[in-house]
Amino acid sequence: NIATRRYHEKVIDHYERPRNVGSLPRTDPDVGTGLVGAPACGDVMKLQIRVDDTTGKIVDVKFKTFGCGSAIASSSYMTERVRGMSIEEASKIKNTEIAQELSLPPVKLHCSMLAEDAIKSAIKDYKKKRTSTMPANPPSP
Ligand code: FES
Ligand code: FES
Repeated sequence: NIATRRYHEKVIDHYERPRNVGSLPRTDPDVGTGLVGAPACGDVMKLQIRVDDTTGKIVDVKFKTFGCGSAIASSSYMTERVRGMSIEEASKIKNTEIAQELSLPPVKLHCSMLAEDAIKSAIKDYKKKRTSTMPANPPSP
């Protein structure tokens, strides 16, 4: 069909079977929420991470987007990519890597930017919460 001819099969796959769709409880102290919008089109994406406070690693991740197919594919791919990563590693992921991996056309570059902005914003939220509400690290077992 037209869609498969115009878009890379990886985009179609993530679009048809998006990974990690959903929400995490926003008020949990170890959950960071990123909510961002794309000025180019007005689409919105929410991406949430749960971070292990002792290791600094992302142990769970969920997203929701009111966006186009490429935004869904970009965020789905992003959630798969960051699970198990440290928040430092995750904050370095560039939208250009996502766009390349999914072979997004130039007009859809901003859709992958939404995924990069969303993970950064989720990490920022987690860090803010952690410094304001978390007690000191419990001793490691
Ligand atoms: Fe229409 Fe993104 S501009 S869904
Ligand atoms: Fe705007 Fe994809 S996020 S068109």
